[in-house]
Amino acid sequence: MKATAIANANIALIKYWGKRDQKLILPNNNSIAITLDGLNTITTVEFDKKYERDLFILDGLEIKEGKEFERVVNHLNLIRAMAHIKEKAKVSSKNNFPTAAGLASSASGFAALSLAASKAAGLNLDPKELSILARQGSGSATRSCLGGFVEWLKGEKPDGSDSFAVQIAPPEHWPEFRMIVTIISSAKKKISSRAGMAQTIATSPMYKVWLDTIDEDLDKMRRGILEKDFSLVGKTAEFNCLKMHATMITTNPSIIYWMPETLEIIQAVLMWREEGLECYFTIDAGSQVKIICLDNQVPEIEKRLQAIKGVKETIVCKTGAGPKLIEKHLF
Ligand code: PMV
Repeated sequence: MKATAIANANIALIKYWGKRDQKLILPNNNSIAITLDGLNTITTVEFDKKYERDLFILDGLEIKEGKEFERVVNHLNLIRAMAHIKEKAKVSSKNNFPTAAGLASSASGFAALSLAASKAAGLNLDPKELSILARQGSGSATRSCLGGFVEWLKGEKPDGSDSFAVQIAPPEHWPEFRMIVTIISSAKKKISSRAGMAQTIATSPMYKVWLDTIDEDLDKMRRGILEKDFSLVGKTAEFNCLKMHATMITTNPSIIYWMPETLEIIQAVLMWREEGLECYFTIDAGSQVKIICLDNQVPEIEKRLQAIKGVKETIVCKTGAGPKLIEKHLF
């Protein structure tokens, strides 16, 4: 009744922004992401009669209450119901990157929790079933259930059974593809993506434009990935990111996740491109900028990023694998 899983984070090239069902976490639009090698969560889960209540340890610290704790317990309840078991669980989780700083820790977190907990509960889920389960913990976690370039289908059904992840291409399809994560601040963000999305749907006049133009972005991105057309992938990702932020900026009250350093990196990327150094940016619901490039540009981009004062750290990621079970437990 104990299992441990490792799952990689993912960063969307075409963003998920807005839900059609809050409880089942069903999105209004498909999204496309790359699963990142190198940013991961390891989670061990044990169901046992000896536990009187669910225990959750994150990066060595026990979390006893609050939203984070409730989300984990709700997820365990879902798995207990699927497996017809009653035992409480101990969950220990470790991220190798700063939690909740706009680096999608909930994606790798819920993918790892779903795989470890379902296995510990005696279930053997296939990637489709696993992504449907992970989706109910965190939307972006759906995509971390597969490796490489992944699309999360929004589905149409009210029960969410057709809203899951499919692979567009495996990690080895495009070995030169890189994403450089820049860290400018490890502070937790003030507005969760959950709250940001709800506020956008309720108040942004731009949200309709987002939905009206998303299929075009998705088509370009699928084509760009399959044909390994780097310019098409980069341009489409950057434009899609800016459209998402335009919907947030125009909510009431306005949501602006960008910090001065965010804008500094944006300006730098635009300038570098003019100079012939081809790279693009994408930003989630946070202040961190991720730079999309090919492997031969990495040394030059890293050198230039290091010259920007606000950049604390950079992490260079390739496309990574889907989640897997590992032998080494955290407890
Ligand atoms: O799954 P959540 O609730 O963390 O939402 C993720 C939202 C974005 O990161 C902004 C976009 C995306 O597709 O990952």
